[in-house]
Amino acid sequence: MVLRRLNFSMETKMALFRVSQLLIRAPIADGGRKMTRKKDLVSLVVEEELQKCENSTLCFPVPVPHPVILEIGCGSGAIALSLLCKLPQSRVIAMDKEEAAVDLTRENAHRPTYPSSPKLLPTLGVYFWFWLHWAAFLYFLQVPACVLQLQERIHIIHQDVSHSSAKQLLLWGPIDVIVSNPPYVFHEDMAFLDAEILCYEDLDALDGGDDGMRVIKTILALAPSLLKVSGSVFLEVDPRHPNMVEQWLQAHPELLLTLRAIHKDFCGKPRFLHIQRQSS
Ligand SMILES: C[S@@+](CC[C@H](N)C(=O)[O-])C[C@H]1O[C@@H](n2cnc3c(N)ncnc32)[C@H](O)[C@@H]1O
Repeated sequence: MVLRRLNFSMETKMALFRVSQLLIRAPIADGGRKMTRKKDLVSLVVEEELQKCENSTLCFPVPVPHPVILEIGCGSGAIALSLLCKLPQSRVIAMDKEEAAVDLTRENAHRPTYPSSPKLLPTLGVYFWFWLHWAAFLYFLQVPACVLQLQERIHIIHQDVSHSSAKQLLLWGPIDVIVSNPPYVFHEDMAFLDAEILCYEDLDALDGGDDGMRVIKTILALAPSLLKVSGSVFLEVDPRHPNMVEQWLQAHPELLLTLRAIHKDFCGKPRFLHIQRQSS
């Protein structure tokens, strides 16, 4: 068993602060090396929710988004917990088919806020530094600390996503956003992954089947029965997937889903899809 801690950079800003002591255990896929991309996936959801709020008069006078978000394939819980921190009025349902992932997400959601580990924060100066950032985080988000009680705003479900998942996932009513970094590696590419990935990560968490779309298709088929009208799906995918997903959606008009935007990662590759539910 390998235990690693994500090496969050200072640039991950205040909202990732709460999860910067995230526990990671192999073979749970955590994408620690992909934190920039994961942060982008989180940022896309946050931007969308803030934008929606700005466009809505219902949020007057203080525009605070309060979406219900579903993360499919939560792994260590990094995305789910980041969203809870960045959107302090949100609630997140985090699901994963792996019991170890669900347990780890639960454990990370219960981890205390800084400063919590004297081993990690050995000097007073470091304590002060972290508290300063914590105060800045609260100031900028303008929320009391109690609102950040993550355990009350996260529901963690151990389940293999399928067409029959809807009932259990609607416990908080229709969903505003589905977010997922699903297994999307084409099966034929699995053998060419980095040695480090092949050694330590759960390959089943990465293998998306022959076209890399096994879980993506399940998510999209399920989405209309979960999402509010105009609700969104944000997916991290392989650069070959945007066209494939668009064609697949065109072949399934009954799903009422439209590919709204394709976003690039920091390497300029099309890696993030924003799909939206139309009105019927
Ligand atoms: C690529 S990892 C992403 C983990 C984490 N969300 C992240 O971004 O680092 C994919 C996750 O999806 C989970 N998963 C794979 N197939 C699934 C399914 N059919 N239903 C639910 N979870 C699934 C895996 O167990 C794994 O934790």
